Amino acid sequence: MSDFIETSVSDGVLTLRMNRPEKKNAIDRPMYAAMAAALARADADETTGATLIAGVPGAFSAGNDIADFVAVAMGGGKTGEVESFLRALVASEKPIVAAVDGLAIGIGTTMLMHCDLVFVSDRSTFRTPFLDLGLVPEAGSSLLAPQLMGHQRAFALLAMGAKFDAEEARAANLVYRVTSGETVESEAMAAAVALAVKPKEALRIARDLIRGPKDALLARIEEEIRYFEERLSSAEARAAFQAFMTR
Ligand code: COA
Repeated sequence: MSDFIETSVSDGVLTLRMNRPEKKNAIDRPMYAAMAAALARADADETTGATLIAGVPGAFSAGNDIADFVAVAMGGGKTGEVESFLRALVASEKPIVAAVDGLAIGIGTTMLMHCDLVFVSDRSTFRTPFLDLGLVPEAGSSLLAPQLMGHQRAFALLAMGAKFDAEEARAANLVYRVTSGETVESEAMAAAVALAVKPKEALRIARDLIRGPKDALLARIEEEIRYFEERLSSAEARAAFQAFMTR
């Protein structure tokens, strides 16, 4: 489905790795589709107890592939694969742990709001330049970020495009633990393995209770997508994409 998404299972943990280092792990539509399929596979597989999402050294993800944004805008503006991935994140029945080292931009930041435990290296940075691209926040972040970090930090992140370093992201409740680049993945994996051996049914119920009802989140994701798809072909967005592609 995509050569840039690698999956493997060990110790009851499905590892989903974004592996497109030459593009700083920018995510295109086949990658979203592969990630949605991997999350669904983790849910369907009795022997999998947790999912670990990881990137490559220095790049968790530079966000949506901007060339792909242009292709989507020219092809009618439908972001179906992104929506499938977001729905899979919300629907996931197994805990999701993230290991972030380096860049986390756009959806590289907002997908973390759906994770249960986020481990990051001390050199990680978090940024969502939606407005600078003529776009609007996505992935339910307009609902989740204010709940996590309060209005002002959510506004700084999502509307102003402020860059958060690892400590700022931890203080803003986006991150569970800050560690080093050398240890971030092993610490995240150890947490995922620890979750994978918990009694499965009790874990599922506890996680559902902690996460709460999904209706408002799904409705917000849909609302954001409506605006996002309109914005993709706006003059503001086209100018920003062109500026990036011709840097
Ligand atoms: N979409 C498409 N390609 C991207 C990309 C993205 N989101 N992010 C990085 N790339 C590509 C670059 O175009 C470059 O490709 P090239 O070598 O073929 O020219 C390659 O990845 C390396 O990126 P580069 O910009 O040279 O690395 P850098 O370390 O100087 O800067 C970033 C890294 C991530 C800060 C910078 O690439 C950037 O700002 N990317 C856009 C981030 C963004 O706006 N994402 C969308 C959020 S909604």
